[in-house]
Amino acid sequence: MKHAMISRVLGAAALGVLATTTVPALATAGETQDQAAAATRLLMPSLDSARGMELFVQKGCATCHSVNGVGGEDAAALDAHDMDRFMNPFDLAARMWSMATIMIPAQQDELGAQIEFTGDELGDIIAFLHDDAQQHQFTGDYVRKVRQRMQPGKPDGQGEEPAKGGQATGANGRLDG
Ligand code: HEC
Repeated sequence: MKHAMISRVLGAAALGVLATTTVPALATAGETQDQAAAATRLLMPSLDSARGMELFVQKGCATCHSVNGVGGEDAAALDAHDMDRFMNPFDLAARMWSMATIMIPAQQDELGAQIEFTGDELGDIIAFLHDDAQQHQFTGDYVRKVRQRMQPGKPDGQGEEPAKGGQATGANGRLDG
């Protein structure tokens, strides 16, 4: 029992939810996750759709893909309401993988390099792509704000070199959302 408690706390810490007050309420789900984690040693990322919305702009996805009618038109729109109501997040990663031979050269072409992301970042992006309510916040204004923050020299630009195409108001960057 004590051991289960410790592993639950460790699991929560790894998921980054320790600081919230919701941990006790998650106990049942946490227990199941602990059991799975104990067997596979796999931890699910936090799947933060608000963070994913920001990454969708920062990483340059919005240069080619639109959400909520905002973004590029070079590639398929990625609206949550067009997806299955319940979705395995790995299925979306698998779709990206199966399109990689098309998408990566397109990224090298338009952004100057292949987009890189961590598993946590991809988890957040996928959460955003499947969160209809969050997607309604995705407006031209929002995109402009994120791109402004990405300008070099700004303290909250997070030291990340913005993707070349990520800043372009661009021929294909519809920002009038
Ligand atoms: C330079 C353009 C470009 C960028 C940037 C880009 N993609 Fe794509 N993406 C494509 C193209 C082209 C395809 C394949 C054709 C299509 O789906 O329209 C594709 C396919 C996909 C698919 C599969 C769609 C389907 O129909 O199954 C997903 C999901 C996807 N991209 C997600 C992303 C995410 C997430 C990012 C940012 C991390 C991103 N893309 C960045 C061009 C791009």
